[in-house]
Amino acid sequence: MLGTTYLAYFEGNAREDRAPAPSLATELPRALHAPLATSLGRFQLGESAGGKIHDEITTLKDVALDAPTRRAVQLYIEEEWRHARELSRVIHALGGELQRTHWTNGAFTACRRLLGLRTKMMTLAIAEVIGIVYYRALAAGLGSPALHGALSCIANEESRHLDFQAAFFERAVELTAPRLREPYRFLLQGLMWAVLVAACAVLWLDHRALLRHVGLRPHAVFAACFGELASRRFLRLCPGATLGAWLKT
Ligand SMILES: [Fe+2]
Ligand SMILES: [Fe+2]
Repeated sequence: MLGTTYLAYFEGNAREDRAPAPSLATELPRALHAPLATSLGRFQLGESAGGKIHDEITTLKDVALDAPTRRAVQLYIEEEWRHARELSRVIHALGGELQRTHWTNGAFTACRRLLGLRTKMMTLAIAEVIGIVYYRALAAGLGSPALHGALSCIANEESRHLDFQAAFFERAVELTAPRLREPYRFLLQGLMWAVLVAACAVLWLDHRALLRHVGLRPHAVFAACFGELASRRFLRLCPGATLGAWLKT
């Protein structure tokens, strides 16, 4: 069910790369072009990753992976690569250059490879949360319809990716022996929150000038991230909803 549902989604959502509207550069102040291109470039690097999972998913041993789910994961990674190509068009339209490496991307990759498929999927899930909050903040806050069109489309797809991740982990817990189910859920959620806190801190440290420019403060970034997690079934069972509500007060 999980695999067939999301395989159908990813197959149906496949499309050609979209170029940003030609008005993009003129809609944004010139002083913002370079910092925006640099900031987007770090996300573009992250969107380009995932080749190892894409290749290994066909043979990895994991009870949560049936054939449709394996293919859905491949299409999910391929959709991220489309995001990378679309972001590269935005960066070039701003006069920027693509980046080859950045420490945040290296740290993210190292963390992803630490413990196996489920750790990789968890770090990707947190990357979805960060991407949704970041893309939506820039789409809404920079006053450019062309940028809004490009980034809100990507953010909406990231939101579906997070739904997929939440469903994957729900299934992984369901397939665990009943007496181990709740401890395993607790373990996964502990890992998730640890990665989320670190990822939020890196997002703020690395992109704070731009996030401040669109009116966000650290408190609001954390609240938005917690809200994304707390709205998914798998993640609602942890203290996220309570913490998210607390942060919004
Ligand atoms: Fe993406
Ligand atoms: Fe994504």
